[in-house]
Amino acid sequence: MDKVRIGIVGCGGMARSHASRFSMIFDQVEVSAVCDILVDRAQDVAQYLPKPPFVTADYREMYDHVDAVLLVLPHHLHHQATLDFLRAGKHVLVEKPMANSERECREMIQCARDCDRVLMVAYCMRFNPIVLKMKELLDNKTYGDVFQLSIWTEQLTKYPPDHWASSAKTLGGGQLFSHGCHYIDLMLWMLGKPVWGTHFGTNFGTPWMEREGTSNVTIEFEGGIMGYHMGTWGARGTRLRYSFHAHCTEGMLEAAISQGKLILHSKHAVHDPSKPNAPQNEQILLEAPNAKHTEQEMVHFVDCIRTGRKPLTDPVGSLEGLQVIWKLYEAEEQRRLADLRGMGLGSLAL
Ligand SMILES: NC(=O)c1ccc[n+]([C@@H]2O[C@H](COP(=O)([O-])OP(=O)(O)OC[C@H]3O[C@@H](n4cnc5c(N)ncnc54)[C@H](O)[C@@H]3O)[C@@H](O)[C@H]2O)c1
Repeated sequence: MDKVRIGIVGCGGMARSHASRFSMIFDQVEVSAVCDILVDRAQDVAQYLPKPPFVTADYREMYDHVDAVLLVLPHHLHHQATLDFLRAGKHVLVEKPMANSERECREMIQCARDCDRVLMVAYCMRFNPIVLKMKELLDNKTYGDVFQLSIWTEQLTKYPPDHWASSAKTLGGGQLFSHGCHYIDLMLWMLGKPVWGTHFGTNFGTPWMEREGTSNVTIEFEGGIMGYHMGTWGARGTRLRYSFHAHCTEGMLEAAISQGKLILHSKHAVHDPSKPNAPQNEQILLEAPNAKHTEQEMVHFVDCIRTGRKPLTDPVGSLEGLQVIWKLYEAEEQRRLADLRGMGLGSLAL
């Protein structure tokens, strides 16, 4: 089968990360065009490619050169660029978060349907082998029932004042919206239907952020399962980096994403204050390189284009995740609990 011709639009930091993974899948895709308004950046990304692509500063010039595009743009541009490419008959893989408002997300979903093109949102965590294995073990109740999933993401992320990500308007919110959207999506995917939630965020420690740079989310899910996410862009140091702990009734699964390990902790003795370091079993269940694994995401996108299958990270599910975030923000502003009943994946009849 012919290779799918992919265009990359927006050639900043994340596009370079994507480009570094494409070599693994050149049997399936050809990056045939690259675009950035700063054309030097597009030239930089072109260097990763075996065949010189079409290079432009205006994405409307790409239409004749591509079958599909990967949009790696500032958040406030996701909506218009998605509509433009769908209307030009192209399939679209748009980076997270899908768009900055519910209206924009709904227009993108409708446009993909009207144009009969694949629209997928790039939630790369869903394609990480360690995360996939954790999901499988939780679904199969291999270590009993999950009752608490805690997710920590600690990094130093700092933009210059004139960068689009420094403004809450163009970023679409703060750390929770921009980065935490990955983990709200994972919690909804792994834990089921949310019931109540809280968000507390601060930009203390990250004064370069207009909105929160540090975010704490607690969500109660149906069945009494708890989900927690702490994400900061202000970490001057970290032990955990990216780490997920799923406490189940028969053991704890640790997805040490940054170490590339899924570890089972089990047979932990009942706590005895005189023996604070009681031994427990530790078993490495899976090892995988610490990477964004975006090539797996791209392979899935290409498969959806070829087969017409619905993407795992489809735009309706992405909107459902963002709705939870907007509800959490709203409740935080009003200093009350967020009522999340009736929300979550599969809740929208769209
Ligand atoms: N999945 C992940 O782990 C991950 C990590 C980082 C960023 N991202 C996402 O990737 C996207 C881009 O983020 P980034 O960190 O690469 O930002 P960035 O600012 O580094 O890159 C954005 C690029 O878009 C270019 N651009 C702006 N307007 C344009 C236009 N009209 N046409 C063409 N190019 C244009 C800019 O010049 C810039 O080079 C965002 O959606 C972000 O959330 C995802």
